[in-house]
Amino acid sequence: MKIKNICCIGAGYVGGPTMAVIAQKCPEIKVTVVDINESRIAAWNDEDVDNIPIYEPGLSNIVKEARGRNLFFSTEVDSAIDKADMIFISVNTPTKTYGMGKGMAADLKFIELCARQIARVSTSDKIVIEKSTLPVRTAEALKNILDNTGNGVNYQILSNPEFLAEGTAVDDLMNPDRVLIGGDIDSDKGKEAVKALVDIYAHWVPREQILTTNVWSSELSKLTANAFLAQRVSSINAMSELCEKTGADVNEVAKAVGMDSRIGPKFLKASVGFGGSCFQKDILNLVYIAKSFGLEEVANYWEQVIIMNDHQKKRFATKIVKTLFNTVSGKKIGILGWAFKKDTNDTRESAAIYVTDYLLNEQAEIVVYDPKVKAEQVYADLDYLNTRTEAENRARVKVVNTPYEAAYQTHAVAIMTEWDEFKELDWPQIYEDMLKPAFLFDGRRLLERKTKEKIGFEFYAIGS
Ligand code: UDX
Ligand code: UDX
Ligand code: ADP
Repeated sequence: MKIKNICCIGAGYVGGPTMAVIAQKCPEIKVTVVDINESRIAAWNDEDVDNIPIYEPGLSNIVKEARGRNLFFSTEVDSAIDKADMIFISVNTPTKTYGMGKGMAADLKFIELCARQIARVSTSDKIVIEKSTLPVRTAEALKNILDNTGNGVNYQILSNPEFLAEGTAVDDLMNPDRVLIGGDIDSDKGKEAVKALVDIYAHWVPREQILTTNVWSSELSKLTANAFLAQRVSSINAMSELCEKTGADVNEVAKAVGMDSRIGPKFLKASVGFGGSCFQKDILNLVYIAKSFGLEEVANYWEQVIIMNDHQKKRFATKIVKTLFNTVSGKKIGILGWAFKKDTNDTRESAAIYVTDYLLNEQAEIVVYDPKVKAEQVYADLDYLNTRTEAENRARVKVVNTPYEAAYQTHAVAIMTEWDEFKELDWPQIYEDMLKPAFLFDGRRLLERKTKEKIGFEFYAIGS
């Protein structure tokens, strides 16, 4: 089976970059990315590729090359679905905020809407691929809807979880550790569908790195991978607190531990807590699934990863308050970095949001600088918490355009995101501009203690 037309539903952090790379690597396939969000699609189509809605190093060049050739962005969802042989679903699956499974289960309503839409408009056979992270056995629900509401066309459902990390999306897509494809490998039609997708990735990924499994293994592997990664961060963060008490240094511990080849050096960086759209959501999802099967011990085991992460964020905020003589009321604090990690403009679940919220509850005045996050996003993130009125958030939080403005006349500055540019700032100037004693809190182990103390800062860093 030769795929000529691909449609991707959802032009977000996953759908956008993934389809851009598929289009670049497979010039003979027409790739159409659709979304119901008109302004997002307009931004993807912006003549100036620097205005595409997602900031990822290297992405704008790929979009420049493929857009208009075989990569298209559109709001015409129905016609793109009908024309496609292969449909990727990469819509958002946030944690449910209501009803059964509130705060834990994934909200599948966007996925279900997609399935019903596909069933309604399709007039030819389709391979439907779940790209969003989904609870195990979602494929089955998809199949059920498609087979029972469709126009008698044949659907093959595949699971093809995306492992890209934001900030390195292009590189991760170009050189993936592995590509995982789950399908109905016991049937001929299923095998054919799996092969069609394998052939697409084989344009640039060595075949031995393309794994095929049954659908459920594929779905569960994605949740497991994210749970393990998040667990490493919580494990090292747990040690960071112990290091602070004992005089050990968490970076030295991480290095020593990571040189054990069974453990490995990556993902052992202590921080103010992990964020992003995946880790917390996927673990909560895993916890919910385990609980729904009555597996209390399994659920409790994984829930600790989240509990530790919440503790780390709170501990950092508390440290600031305690260090500033037990009160930040009326004090100005500069926040450097709002994104959940460097090289992305994504702020979902960013530790900066929670630390700021805590400091606002202690009546601090906050000034935020992030090189890629816009002011309206900062306010939207705080408003979403519903802790205080929107007017109050705007009155007490200022968003500025330079790190120097963020530090000016503050009692303390806190590094929340590990942006490279923060290393190179004119720190003596910042010290000069701050109230004394000038406190500097490094939530990312980005700065060197010695040089900062020499300037005169009262310096605190996670895990030392
Ligand atoms: C361990 C550490 O590996 C070693 O570095 C340290 O110096 C001492 O403790 P040891 O207890 O001798 O070594 O053996 P190890 O291979 O680590 O296995 C420990 C237990 O874990 C065994 O019961 C093993 O069967 C079990 N295990 C190990 C698993 O169940 N699954 C695994 O994947 C690995
Ligand atoms: C993650 C997975 O890495 C990716 O495979 C999956 O497809 C989606 O979820 P992402 O959330 O984009 O990707 O970024 P990641 O690099 O994993 O970082 C997640 C969070 O953990 C960030 O807040 C980061 O700062 C934090 N982190 C990561 C640490 O605090 N320490 C580390 O050592 C690594
Ligand atoms: P992710 O990080 O998983 O890519 P995003 O929120 O960045 O998540 O992107 C998901 C996109 O899916 C959003 O732009 C949203 O508008 C889009 N979307 C959600 N439901 C539908 C739907 N039924 N049809 C088309 N697009 C949808």
